[in-house]
Formats: sequence, C-alpha cells, structure tokens
Amino acid sequence: MIPEEVVEQVSQAADIVAIIGEHVRLKKQGSVYRGPCPFHQGTNNNFSVMPKGGYTCFVCGEKGSVFTFVQKRLGLSFVEAVKYVGEKSGVEVREEVRHREGPDPREPLWELNATVAGWFREMLWESELGAPSREYLATRHVSRETADRFGMGFAPRELGLMRAYLNGLGFSDERLLDIGLLVKREEQEEPRPRFRDRLIFPILDAQAHTVGFGGRLLGPGEPKYLNSPESDVFSKGKLLYNLSNARNAIRRDSRVILVEGYFDVVRLVDAGLESVVAPMGTALAEGQADLIAKYSNNAFLLYDSDGPGQKASFRAADILLTRGMTVRVVTLPEGDDPDTFVAKFGREAMEKLLTEAMDVFDRKVQLLERRGWFADLQRKRRALDALLPTIRATTDEITKDLYVNRVAEAAGIARDVLLRELASAPAQRGRVRRASTAPVSRPERAAEPDEIPRDSAPRPAGPYRSDDPGSSSELAIVRVMLVHPGLAEGIIESVGRLDELHGAHTDADAVVDADVGVMRDPVYRALYDAIVVHGAEASPDVLAESLDPVAIEVMEMIRGEPGAVMDGRRTVDDALRRLQERALRERLDELERTTPLADESEKDALLSEKDRLRRELAALGARGWKSVRKQ
Ligand code: GTP
Ligand code: MN
Repeated sequence: MIPEEVVEQVSQAADIVAIIGEHVRLKKQGSVYRGPCPFHQGTNNNFSVMPKGGYTCFVCGEKGSVFTFVQKRLGLSFVEAVKYVGEKSGVEVREEVRHREGPDPREPLWELNATVAGWFREMLWESELGAPSREYLATRHVSRETADRFGMGFAPRELGLMRAYLNGLGFSDERLLDIGLLVKREEQEEPRPRFRDRLIFPILDAQAHTVGFGGRLLGPGEPKYLNSPESDVFSKGKLLYNLSNARNAIRRDSRVILVEGYFDVVRLVDAGLESVVAPMGTALAEGQADLIAKYSNNAFLLYDSDGPGQKASFRAADILLTRGMTVRVVTLPEGDDPDTFVAKFGREAMEKLLTEAMDVFDRKVQLLERRGWFADLQRKRRALDALLPTIRATTDEITKDLYVNRVAEAAGIARDVLLRELASAPAQRGRVRRASTAPVSRPERAAEPDEIPRDSAPRPAGPYRSDDPGSSSELAIVRVMLVHPGLAEGIIESVGRLDELHGAHTDADAVVDADVGVMRDPVYRALYDAIVVHGAEASPDVLAESLDPVAIEVMEMIRGEPGAVMDGRRTVDDALRRLQERALRERLDELERTTPLADESEKDALLSEKDRLRRELAALGARGWKSVRKQ
C-alpha cells in the first residue's frame, strides 16, 4: 500500500507530457499535446495529452491518468506504476509497512532457499562437478545468459557438500529437512540431499520469493523431474513457474501463454515471448487459475500435441472458463512440444501459431465433427455429454450464448432442447462423472518417490477403497487374475466383450472420454491393464514398474491373502454378471437421455433398442442387479 497523500504528491509532481512523450511522439497543439495513439496503433494524431490532467484517444476511447498510462504500456501494477512515476518525478515512494503484523514467518525459509539457489548456481558454473550439467545445457541450446535469467543451477550427487555449506552459514539440519532440501529415510542414519545430479530450476512465487525447486535428471531415469515437497512456503497448486518474471508482460500483452513444463517456458522466453507460465506438469489447480486470472483474462493453452496433453489442456480450459476468461488452444504439430517447436521453427512460426489459435470450444466441436461424433444419435448424446460441462463452466454470458449456438448448429439440436439440457442436473453416470471431475494424470509418469501421488489429494491411511459402485466386482476380477493366472486369458476376453456392450470406442479422442469400459476404477483399471500388458504370470516387480504406489499397495494386499478366493471360476462369473448388469443399466439410461434429442424418424429405433436391453436385463435375473445396487 502506498499512502494516499504520496500518490497525490507524485501525481502533482509528474510531468505527464514528458513521461508519455517517452513512448509517443507528441506535438504541442494549443494547450494540449497530440500524437498517434499507442493503444490502437493509430497513425493520425488522435491521441491527446493534457499537461494538467490525463490522456484520451478520440478514436479508441482509451483514457486515464499518468498512472494508468504507465500501467497499461509497461504492464505494471498500480503500486509499481506510482513508484515508476515517482522516480521520474523526484518523489520518493515508500510502501507503508504494516508494523503490527510483524515480519512474515516464511522469511527465513525464503532466505534459505535463496541461499541454496546461489550455491546451486555456483555448482553449475564454477565447479568441476558442474561440467556434465553445463554440457547438458549446451545440448539443449540454453545459453549462460538464458540460464541466469532463470537462476538455473546444479545439484551435485555428492552427499555432504550442500549440507556442510549451509550448516556453515548457520542453517540447521532441521530447517533443511523442513523445506525438503534434505531427506531422511527411516533406515538411514544420515540425511541425504533430495536433489542429486539434477539441473535445478528455482521456483519463485509471484512476489519473487524463492519458494522451492524443480530438478531435472541430466540423463534418462525416473522420475525425470523432482520438485520440492509441499511445505509452508511451497504449495504447487498455488504457484506458476515464471510468474514473477512474466507478470508485467502478461499485463502489458493482455495475454498469458500456458505451457506444461520448465523447458517450454525457458525456450519461449528465450525466443522473446515473455508472457508465459507453466503449472509444472500438474493438472491446472484452482489456485493456479486464480493467479492467472489476476493478471489477464485472455489465455492461450500451448500444451503438448499428444493425447494426454490435449486432455490436460481441455481440463485447464474448463477451469479458466469458470473465471470468465477467454481461452484459446494452440495446436502444435504431432510430436512437438513448445520447446522443440521453437527450436526447429523459431519465434515467428510460434507467433503465427498463436494467431491461429482457436477458441477452446470451437476446437472441441471441430474435433468431434471430424471424428463423426455428431453423425448418429447415440454418439451425439455422448458428444453432448462431453460439451455440456464446458458450457456450464463458462461464466461469461456472451461466450456461453455463442457456445450454445455453436453446438446447436453442429449437432443439429434445437436451441431450446440444449438450454433444457443445460439447466438440468449433469448426468451422474460413471463415465460422465469421471470425465468431468477426475484429475488428469499421465499414466506413463510414475509418482515421485516421497511425494503424495501427483494430482491427488492426500489419501487417508489404510487400504484403498474405491468409491465407484460396482467396483467390488472390478476388484474381484483383478484378484482372480492375480491369484489364478490361468484364468486371466478367459477373463480378458470376457471383459473385452463387455467393453463393447458399453460402446467403448477405440477411436476415442481427447474430447469424449469414450474409452471408459468395464474396469473403470482408476486403481483396479491400472492393475488390470498392467496384467494385460505384461501377462498374469509376470512377477510383481515387473507389474509394479507401470503402477503407482496405491496400485502397488493393492496388489500386495491381494497377493498377501491368496486364500481369499475360494472358487476362482465362480467368483469371476459372478463379478462379470454384475458388471454386465451395470453396463446394461447404463446403456438404458443413456438411451433414455437420448430420447429428447431424437426426431420422429429416430424414435422407433430407439424404442426397440431399449426394449431389447430390458429383455436382456430381465434374462440376467433381477437378483444380481439388486446386489449391485446395494453397494
Ligand atoms: P524435457 O524432457 O526436459 O523437455 O521435459 P518436458 O517439459 O518436455 O517434459 P514433459 O512434457 O514430460 O513434462 C512437462 C512438465 O511436467 C515438466 O516440465 C515438469 O514440470 C513436469 N514433469 C514431467 N515429468 C515429471 C515427473 O516425473 N515428476 C514430476 N513431479 N513432474 C514431472
Ligand atoms: Mn520438452
């Protein structure tokens, strides 16, 4: 906060003509100064500056004070703008310090992080030990200048070095453990550094305090990146990589570019695109969306072109839309990420992609259209289920209206039917629930060793329990596959047939979560997939390679009680029957919800299909269904 009197004092002292004159060629005309408007890039002298007041453009209507001019042109906050003008006008501007609050308790931790960041930097550039990391940076075409801009460093693998240095400066082991620079495992006597043999990216908060680190392995291995653990100063869901550097540019350019990772940020900034931040590989968190919305309402999502990248960008978009933002997605060529794209094609090409970016909703509709998701009634239902959450998330009314019109047109559905759909409660089926609220997790990326699984809330201790109805049947299936590997092949075949009943499409794309079939609990599904890939006879170690800690725990639990399955064949038959019933129920429900979308000519077919499913369900027997319901 700057006291009101000081703002007034600066305003009085400021020579607005001189300050704006640094950015606009002004000519005196009578009592005012005129020039070309910098806001709409005008060429005629429609921009007018009053020596005693503010500025106005008669064409685009931009007007304001010397402070608003500086804020807009330089992308500064109000406080920064007052300081800037104060400096030019010889008035000292000090922010009011709130004494009663006392110093921020996080201060010592920020200081420690900043200190160790300096040490990492020294290791990278001055030390013999840093040679491999310097080479690594060279292979990735990162110059010293660029690396310094991000304060990059290197954490050597040697055990006692960092600790001795920091202890020598008076930082206790306890502190280092608190903040995750050291880790101590139970079976070990001495604490060890968390980051070893990694290139270090300091992570700063919006106010540029050093709050944590990301570290990349120099070679292959897992995990590729390791971050500081959550602590009083490091909360990943409320941080964006590079925000402190980018925030002025974001305001100035009225746009924020979102990329996935550290190197994408580094490459884009290096290429002159400054308004770029990264959520560091996690699904965009609510706190991160709030941060973004503070600086701009215009987002460009520049995610990897692969399937998971596309999915992640669509999920991020839904969150940003709830903040009333305009969201565009940039489509990179297959196989590129922003880093490789800029390295290959340069800045101009990147700018061109940005100008070609599509509104996220149009992009979704386009993808659905191309894959024929509006072609028949049943797929239309699913396409709609994929689009409605995005429309619901959109808080800007004008945008919302545009989206409704766009779907109505693309899907050939009457506007009022759509509006009714929007007003009714979201469909609560397994498939839809999963599609709209599950976090994005990239299955190919294992969780960090001593971190809670990425993207998930802390789990209460104790055995894993799914909250999906029907999941006990899924568990039963996995259990039998592990305990009686001989039955696995037959099970995989049956599950495949059931998946077809679900209408699980193999041409699923990032928009419609159509690949959700029988095994839908994420943990049981992961176990099932691992068995399909590696075979039921595979050793636990082999299976564990592609599993996260929770799934491994469940696997160990199952293997720990092999006697739990008395009659494998019967258990499987039971489980499959229940799952088949669930599938039939859901299909029926889906058809029910499809009815309002059908025109007269389609209604007959719909009715007879529903009849067929009801008969099938009856044939399975009501007893089985009831037992599924009760779970
Ligand atoms: P490079 O291979 O160094 O270019 O990384 P990348 O950024 O291209 O990797 P990727 O697209 O796989 O990941 C994007 C971002 O996700 C990274 O910059 C990290 O922030 C994060 N990330 C990637 N792998 C891991 C991991 O194993 N653990 C954690 N915690 N984060 C990861
Ligand atoms: Mn990359």
